[in-house]
Amino acid sequence: MVLSRRTFTAFAGTAALGLSLNASAGMDSGGPGGSAYAGHTAPTGPAPDPPTADGRHHTVGFDRYSLLVDGRRLVLWSGEMHPFRLPSPSLWRDVLQKMRAHGYNAVSIYVAWNYHSPAPGRYDFTGVRDLDLFLRQAAETGLYVILRPGPYINAEVDAGGFPGWLTATKARARISDPTYLSYADEWLTAVNRIVARHLYTRGDGTVLLYQIENEYYAYVTKPPGRDYMAHLYAKVRADGIDVPLFHNDQSRHGYWTPGSFDTGGERGRWLYGFDGYPAPDEVPPDWGHFGIGGKKGGATASPGTPGFVPEFGGGWFDPWGGAEFDGAGYAGSARTRDAAYERRFYLTNLANGITVHNVYMTFGGTSWGWLPAPQVYTSYDYGAAFDEGRLATPKVVPMHQFGHLVRCVPELAKLDPAEDITVGGVAAGDGRIKVYHLTNPDTDAHIYVLRNDSTKSVSSALPVAGTSLPVTVPASDARLLAAGIALGQRKLAYSNAQPMLWLTAGGRDVAVLTGRAGETTVTALECASEPTVTVLAGDAESSYADGRVRVTARLGGLTRVLVEGGGISAPLLLLLADDETSARLWPRETPSGSVLVYGPALLRTAELRGDAVRLTGDTVEAAELEVWAPHGVREVVWNQGALQMSATDSGSLRAEQPLAGVPAVALPVLGGWRRQVENPESAPGFDDSKWLVADRTSTFSTTAVPDGQPVLFADDYGFHYGDVWYRGSFTDATGMESVSLGYSTGTQGLLMAWLDGEPLGTHRMPVPDKETVRKGSWTATTTFGVPERVRTPGGHVLSVLVRRMQHDMDGKTQDTHKVARGLTAVTFTGASPAVRWRLQGAAAAAADPVRGPLNTGGLYGERSGWHLPGYGDGGWPVVELPRAERRRQGVAWYRTGFRLDVGPGVDASIGLVLEDDPVRAYRVQIFLNGWNMGQYVNDVGPQHTFVLPNGILRTRGANTLALAVLSDGTTESGPGEVRLTLLGSTAGGVPVTVVPSPGR
Ligand code: GAL
Repeated sequence: MVLSRRTFTAFAGTAALGLSLNASAGMDSGGPGGSAYAGHTAPTGPAPDPPTADGRHHTVGFDRYSLLVDGRRLVLWSGEMHPFRLPSPSLWRDVLQKMRAHGYNAVSIYVAWNYHSPAPGRYDFTGVRDLDLFLRQAAETGLYVILRPGPYINAEVDAGGFPGWLTATKARARISDPTYLSYADEWLTAVNRIVARHLYTRGDGTVLLYQIENEYYAYVTKPPGRDYMAHLYAKVRADGIDVPLFHNDQSRHGYWTPGSFDTGGERGRWLYGFDGYPAPDEVPPDWGHFGIGGKKGGATASPGTPGFVPEFGGGWFDPWGGAEFDGAGYAGSARTRDAAYERRFYLTNLANGITVHNVYMTFGGTSWGWLPAPQVYTSYDYGAAFDEGRLATPKVVPMHQFGHLVRCVPELAKLDPAEDITVGGVAAGDGRIKVYHLTNPDTDAHIYVLRNDSTKSVSSALPVAGTSLPVTVPASDARLLAAGIALGQRKLAYSNAQPMLWLTAGGRDVAVLTGRAGETTVTALECASEPTVTVLAGDAESSYADGRVRVTARLGGLTRVLVEGGGISAPLLLLLADDETSARLWPRETPSGSVLVYGPALLRTAELRGDAVRLTGDTVEAAELEVWAPHGVREVVWNQGALQMSATDSGSLRAEQPLAGVPAVALPVLGGWRRQVENPESAPGFDDSKWLVADRTSTFSTTAVPDGQPVLFADDYGFHYGDVWYRGSFTDATGMESVSLGYSTGTQGLLMAWLDGEPLGTHRMPVPDKETVRKGSWTATTTFGVPERVRTPGGHVLSVLVRRMQHDMDGKTQDTHKVARGLTAVTFTGASPAVRWRLQGAAAAAADPVRGPLNTGGLYGERSGWHLPGYGDGGWPVVELPRAERRRQGVAWYRTGFRLDVGPGVDASIGLVLEDDPVRAYRVQIFLNGWNMGQYVNDVGPQHTFVLPNGILRTRGANTLALAVLSDGTTESGPGEVRLTLLGSTAGGVPVTVVPSPGR
């Protein structure tokens, strides 16, 4: 870019002198970062785009409007994903690239303590836990990172992220209890050692913000809470984390604002943020700085920091049984929080001065193994913009439009309510449209957010820039309009289409505006004299009057209008895109200039090298490829293949042949099953001499130990995840009428008992409904009659299997993660035997070193490696599915292998489907190559499809599937139909490294 004197002066007025300008040798720079704003005052230059680990020092500050990176404004447009919910590190890059391509400039992640720590003092950041790798990938992708390591995270994970072992310590969690603090410090030390290598401030990575604690509200004004927060703050700083820290207020309480606790004398490095999960039928509240009609609190609670929502609902979770979405599962979540929901709520946020915005979740992923909190099932799809199979959903379209908008229109980072908003706003002609009218105080940009909360589409007129602009806002929807913003060298006078982006490529400015298909839009540009206007494609016409050229266009596909002359040197190509089309327009900043790609389903990377632009990306259907690139670019390479291109009258290069779509992917039918029953623990002669004796008399659990009984809680014996077996031996059952077993699990927990090998029965916790789902802990006492024939003198064994599900979360800071799991009390009628209990589960401290402690529970088959790919099942009988097993209480395993041969360069997203008569009372743990991909509960649901992430799934090679089937014995049992399904496929994808899956 060659800076004109005038441009230089404009930028020199900003805090950081042009450091991020896209300087390049001989090629035009593109995009807002480096443009000459002729004809009007330049806004403050935007922050570096994209951020990278560039080895330079950066400042990260803020004022009340926005973050200031190197003194330049940044609207942070972030999406949440959890690396621990995608156990295949190669695929992190896939999701990150998709996020960046669809307009996000940041990713927010929780780091879950339980995922990394099998035992006190032991921290694992290798393999699927490689945080360092994730942070490198984020920097390589060009995304800022918001890091959220807790120590408490909630997140619908086991114990809210606390490690299982913490439940068996005296630590009183989430306050300034010395034992807890010493463990929390241990965790933060381990995390921060890695994070400190990836700070944007030092140019070593792109970590920009760091959160301590999570929605912490129980001890806001009390010393154990305030001291705790001060401790965490000091600890994180002492570990060398020098980016701004923040906390996410659970709601708009105004808790943990700057100055509300001791930050060691540091000022100006703490942000206030609050979370919001509005229901779809709510009117979006005004909770930002402008606080118009809003509750007290929100961003107004912290007038000196930018409006910041660390979590804003991008979907919602669904409990076991599917009560939240009436059994529709996550499709229901995506439907109730759809694209129009995003427009209504996220645009209202922007209109309220929220410039740090994170959508929870953007990719939800999978709570595999024993990771899910008791309430939720395996899928954490969340109804998010990218589904659990990593596929973009229609919800990505508004995100794509807003993300590119906030990046390209720096005016949005500094908005004040326009004068007239105090008297009710700029009225649209119809009161059913709520109008937020905002201006940038440094420029003459006007921004209008129009929201229709009614159930009917409303058409009206909005007074804008001296005209009466016709506007239509569909029912329960919203749109953003702009006037006076720069579109390259020209200025937008007004438009009733929503701006999405502009950039400069090949000596011409290209601007994109969007709207619903079929809408008629009018777009006016300031023009001192009449320009030449050519409609290159689509249904459009233009007129000129009063220093403005007006283009009227009907939206459908890509309408192209070229505006040349009129006193401005660079031609402007106006692209008017309907929603669907807009999501196939891919702008990209490179160090050598801007590129705009149109056509394929995804653009992952773009690199300018000499006269070539090298692109990588995905197609589904055959797709056209069109590229706007800097002067001199002649060659276009797509996924390593050079293409024949020809120049177009739009100033682009177009591929002469369409890009190929994805070839068909064939999946094998699963067969060749082998079956083996287990639960030998239920037999009286089973050798349990190596099991631990339940001899403890006290516990740190919050559950009381009944008088005179030993502690039976699994956690006290080091069994923190999955099933646990108990065997109680006693010497005389004469007269014994019944046995009552008290136990405690999460929802969906169950207990099954045998006396001397005779099944006594199964008891199950109820399926939660909408009201009870938040009740974490589920306790019950069940009484089984003792059959006459075993009421005899001599030795007896009572065997009990408890599926204890997971630990409660601790959102209220009541140590609820320490509620017992497993058996809690045992009493008899008719006899009072002295019972000697032994128990066995999966010892977390000796967990699978690769798959981790949350992978494997304590079933006999799990303890014996039946879930592992190397297990020799050759002696097991061959069976066919579907099965209709006779009623048998207990565990049976089914194993098979299958080969996949997905072509190279094809990203196939594959799932496993289980279906059966919903009356059958059984559940299945699914092990793929030894990895626990989740739990299917046939008679509860709603989940039937389990995503199998590539990497764990070998898409070119052999796989082993093992199903551990636990049957109540009250009905016939399956498995019924078990099959592979293709969730989606693309030509493209990222290279996937096979995730190590030890065979034994
Ligand atoms: C928030 C919490 C998150 C997650 C979310 C619901 O309140 O901070 O961790 O639990 O709710 O999905």
